[in-house]
Amino acid sequence: MGLIKVKNRDEIELMREAGRITAEALNCLKAEVREGMTTAELDKIGEELIRSRGAEPVFIGYRGYRHATCISINNEVVHGIPGDKLIKNGDIVSVDVGVKKNGYCGDSAATFPVGKVTGKTEKLLRLGREALKAGIKQARAGNYLGDISFAIQQLAEKNGFSVVRDLYGHGIGRDLHEDPLIPNYGSRGEGPKLLPGMVLAIEPMLNIGSWKIKTLADGWTVVTSDGTLSCHFEHTVLVTEKDPEILTIWSKTKT
Ligand code: MF3
Ligand code: CO
Repeated sequence: MGLIKVKNRDEIELMREAGRITAEALNCLKAEVREGMTTAELDKIGEELIRSRGAEPVFIGYRGYRHATCISINNEVVHGIPGDKLIKNGDIVSVDVGVKKNGYCGDSAATFPVGKVTGKTEKLLRLGREALKAGIKQARAGNYLGDISFAIQQLAEKNGFSVVRDLYGHGIGRDLHEDPLIPNYGSRGEGPKLLPGMVLAIEPMLNIGSWKIKTLADGWTVVTSDGTLSCHFEHTVLVTEKDPEILTIWSKTKT
């Protein structure tokens, strides 16, 4: 593993701005997602919001990817490519969005229910949110990276869900993906010690069935091997001297 960058005050201020725009975009997509629209239509709304804030959709151009967002439905875990697919009543829609502003990135994702979903599906989404929250809670100076991974895995598995093992969270800054890799499974006390100024994109993916995944022939879309539902929640988080600061929470009152 390479060096984990520690951001200075000025960089943190820029990352707050990138995070705020990321959060605003995801919040907007949450409000706009509905039955009968295509994933390409949803993506376009996200791209316009990002550009209207003087930022760039950082996913465009990343390893040849051509869209502002990834939109993954039901058994799709992540990296669904926006296109002609129609969103239906009862779907769960995972939206992942990344932004670059003044040279710094923000990255956030969430899974939204469309219309009425079953109790089991609701539980999956609740546990996905709670697993992310539990991971973030461990993102404290003096803790170890493994404390984050452990907290996520424990919560998910205790509640009967599996965590995807082959995809990771990551450090974030000037680049969308920086060191370290952040697995969503592991042991307490493992890995590097966390320092104030580190910025981490923590992103658990939970499945109803097996943790195993596969990539479709389009080269991007990741699905569960057994076809069961999957959810994805991600925040960009700053490690501080005190409580972790979530950079990708949007509030109207903050400027
Ligand atoms: N948001 C993803 C991540 O967290 C990256 C998406 S891949 C891209 O790692 F090609 F769409 F950028
Ligand atoms: Co990410």
